[in-house]
Amino acid sequence: MDDTVVLSAPLFSHMEPEASRALLESMTSLEFQRGTAIFHEGDPGDRLYVIARGKIKLGRRSADGRENLLAVIGPGEMFGELSLFDPGPRTASATVVADAVVLELDHAELNAWLADHPKVAIHLLQALGHRLRRTNETLADLVFSDVPGRVAKALLDLSTRFGEQVDDGLRVAHDLTQEELAQLVGASRETVNKALADFAARGWVRRDGRAVVLLDLPRLERRAR
Ligand code: CMP
Repeated sequence: MDDTVVLSAPLFSHMEPEASRALLESMTSLEFQRGTAIFHEGDPGDRLYVIARGKIKLGRRSADGRENLLAVIGPGEMFGELSLFDPGPRTASATVVADAVVLELDHAELNAWLADHPKVAIHLLQALGHRLRRTNETLADLVFSDVPGRVAKALLDLSTRFGEQVDDGLRVAHDLTQEELAQLVGASRETVNKALADFAARGWVRRDGRAVVLLDLPRLERRAR
């Protein structure tokens, strides 16, 4: 397992190396395959996770069974912290999108750790603040932006996590099915497909299975505004 990526998580940032190492050693490493539900919305939450490898989707389900994805996160990111700071049931379900290795830490252990390392709490707060900022933006986009604009934004957002430079652009291996991509954008599969086909026809993207190559970032950025 690549510790460097885990140690970049807010939980460890700006900590003395020995302290990070001690915390890392107190965490349990778990491996999950694509499709595994790590926990469900509404479950009691007693631990937090840091992703070492793979991708996790965080989603909610409506009473009639429709799904909405709040985020797709990857290595170095954490999840399962909300039910620690705001004790209560899990606010979303966490499901593996690409085979993953995650490290788990018991909330009680984390609380003890934070009492001894108060600076870490600031970094966790920053991560929460960042998440809230992003959620506000998504909420505004749902009200103010059209579907193609939201698709462009989702692709750019995914590229900041999973983008990899290739010859003709930025390859984003999101590992999402068309249905999951639509759930992330908050629109039907047909409308999201139409937007992607239109972007491809304009030469802004190239579709490549469960990946998209972003060919024209400036145009996508303009469309996302
Ligand atoms: P918790 O409520 O314990 O379990 C579900 C997790 O999903 C939650 O902690 C957060 O880590 C994560 N989560 C909830 N809402 C969002 C959001 N809007 N954006 C990103 N992650 C979220």
